[in-house]
Amino acid sequence: MVPAALASAPAREDSAVFETLRSVVRFDRPALDRRARRLRRAASVGDLRRLARRRLPRGVFDYIDGGAEDEVTLAANTAAFRAIGFAPRVLRGVGDVDTSTTLLGRSLPLPLALAPTGFSRIADAQGELAVARAAARSGIPYVLSTLATRSIEEVAAAADGPQWFQVYVWRDRGLVREMVERAAANGYEALVLTVDTAVFGRRERDVRRGFSLPPAIGPSTLIDGAIHPAWTWQFVRSEPIRFANVVGAASGASGTSRASAGETAVTLADYVNAQFDPDLGWADVEWLRGIWDGPIVLKGIQTVADARLAATAGVDAIALSNHGGRQLDGAPAALSLVAPVVDAIGDAVEVICDGGVRRGSDIVKAVALGARACFAGRAYLYGLGAAGEPGVDHVLTLLADDVRRTMALCGARSIAELDRSLLRAVDPVDERT
Ligand code: GLV
Repeated sequence: MVPAALASAPAREDSAVFETLRSVVRFDRPALDRRARRLRRAASVGDLRRLARRRLPRGVFDYIDGGAEDEVTLAANTAAFRAIGFAPRVLRGVGDVDTSTTLLGRSLPLPLALAPTGFSRIADAQGELAVARAAARSGIPYVLSTLATRSIEEVAAAADGPQWFQVYVWRDRGLVREMVERAAANGYEALVLTVDTAVFGRRERDVRRGFSLPPAIGPSTLIDGAIHPAWTWQFVRSEPIRFANVVGAASGASGTSRASAGETAVTLADYVNAQFDPDLGWADVEWLRGIWDGPIVLKGIQTVADARLAATAGVDAIALSNHGGRQLDGAPAALSLVAPVVDAIGDAVEVICDGGVRRGSDIVKAVALGARACFAGRAYLYGLGAAGEPGVDHVLTLLADDVRRTMALCGARSIAELDRSLLRAVDPVDERT
């Protein structure tokens, strides 16, 4: 005879199996749209880069992702961050980490501003409007590029966060003055003068793909467009991409023309070389100082010698930058300049580190070396290309969470507690990445 206890065993086993399954099986609530589904699984900026690469036509992705010539400087920007590790302190009571700081007299939730990037509408139809709105939601300054595809006025109307305007110096100074006046009238808080683009860098990916702006439709673009239908559908349905800040106004070496206003397809190199003034000098910095009352950032300083000159040129900050590795290949990684420049100029001007920021830990490293803040450009463009405006929100959330977590794990409760004692050089042999 089977004892009663054993006879009921199979039923108990069934319920145990059920209980175990119930505790481990998870069916995520279906995300409402495809973008949200994509973002749910994007754990890092690197993941968003991979998504953007899938979603964007190759020419567009390469324009965003690529650098000059052999892309040595492009790679050096990110490698410099990997070459620095942390020397974390523990038992420091990090229950309440404060990531806020100040930059150009304004308080910020973390040491970050969004770098100017041209033509954001090639990544997503909303372009600069999407970036400005996401930046405003996070309280992060957004620097609108002269070469934007949404105008100074449109961006100002779209979002009420801190906005700065980036200036390229056109041969036609009247045009520059007019843009600066429009920026002032629309509440932009600071000017960022880019000084590393005397002539245009040779981005060989763009040369190989015959990339132009606006993107021209030829046989290869048609095929590329067909295999990226979501991007293509959005692109053909939205209004034509143009250099929104100079439409109908640009003139230059070639005289006023549809090409100079961005109304016909041109290679960016031809456009920049025709429109921008290669004779730009320190006197022009003084000129800009004379026509703008607010803070000025000089972006593109790449040596200690120029940082020293900038410190006495009447500007408020410098951005150590090689234009994301897109101009002079062989220029130093931005991060490698932070310590020598800060040691040379002290706090005469604020120092921003621009280039290679992909994680919040990168921001923490730059600040611990002495930078006031970082600029990030590609990081948000990957988010924009991967999933539009929510993609930019996602990047900003990732970076903010990273900064807070990294500070906690380093034992730093505030930005003021970040210093070089928390850093160490990574041994490239022992710690291959
Ligand atoms: C524009 O500024 C670019 O780097 O392509």
